[in-house]
Amino acid sequence: MPESPCVIGNYSFRTPFFLASGTWGLGDTLLNYLTPEEIKASIGALITKGLSLEPMPGNPPPRLFETPCGLINSIGLENPGLKAFLEKYYPELKVLEVPIIFNLHGKALEEFYEMAEILSEIGEEAIELNISCPNVKEGGIAFSQNPQVVFELVKGVRAVFKGLLIVKLSPIGPVLEVAKKAEEAGADALTVANTYPALGVISYEPLQIIRGGLSGPAIKPLTLRLVFELSQRVKIPLIASGGIMSGKDALDYLICGAKAFQIGTANLIDPRAPIKIKQEFEELSQKYGRLLDKSSS
Ligand SMILES: Cc1cc2nc3c(=O)[nH]c(=O)nc-3n(C[C@H](O)[C@H](O)[C@H](O)COP(=O)(O)O)c2cc1C
Repeated sequence: MPESPCVIGNYSFRTPFFLASGTWGLGDTLLNYLTPEEIKASIGALITKGLSLEPMPGNPPPRLFETPCGLINSIGLENPGLKAFLEKYYPELKVLEVPIIFNLHGKALEEFYEMAEILSEIGEEAIELNISCPNVKEGGIAFSQNPQVVFELVKGVRAVFKGLLIVKLSPIGPVLEVAKKAEEAGADALTVANTYPALGVISYEPLQIIRGGLSGPAIKPLTLRLVFELSQRVKIPLIASGGIMSGKDALDYLICGAKAFQIGTANLIDPRAPIKIKQEFEELSQKYGRLLDKSSS
């Protein structure tokens, strides 16, 4: 069973349930749905919307498309930029006294290093690197497709940032090699994983197609397998992200090797989902805890 509190690297979280990047906005609407007490009691960490050095406008609509058991999003990494986020949105989040993990993406290695330096200078303690974004210097191929580039990225960030460093893997490409390189370069934990590239036909007349990342229940069996495989290959903790909609989903990930759980698409359906998922998880853990202890011994 995960420790209570949940320990990752040198950091201790009150619960193993984190809010996944991009699925709870920039934080300004969180208190419309949850009280500060509920947030503190049920959410171990808030992972920010993906932030870049400069503001990004994102993609034109359509940006979201529902499939029978998943969601395709094509937000295009829209965000106000790290500095504006720190000024406008961060102060309200900080008072909640829940650890904040900064999810970062960049067009080049140097952008990541610069953001990590900014966060280090203001004493921030946790970063999650989104490596699924395009690397302009490599012709727009995602950082995640080249294990050596990931090594360089993590090494460079590690050199300027001493806090908790999480690498969020892409589920496609050389995932195991990338995970090993991230670990070797000094990552404290891995988030497994981001969305899966997908396409949806929205309408025929006019023809409207959306290309984006698939999330939600559809991806859970795929990401569950990744967690299982990675748990045998790397030593650093794994944080599961992929279709966690219920307490059982989280427990499945725990059994397959994850130490903490990110709630993503579930928030978009019901912003109070984290409370329910945590409660279900705790009930199931009580019921099956004895069996889980036996299977791990
Ligand atoms: C609308 C939307 C926006 C997202 N934005 C980001 C982002 O900015 N950075 C990031 O690393 N992941 C982003 N993600 C991926 C989620 O954080 C999560 O890893 C993924 O959706 C899988 O989990 P889920 O099936 O529980 O949603 C986004 C997902 C959705 C649905």
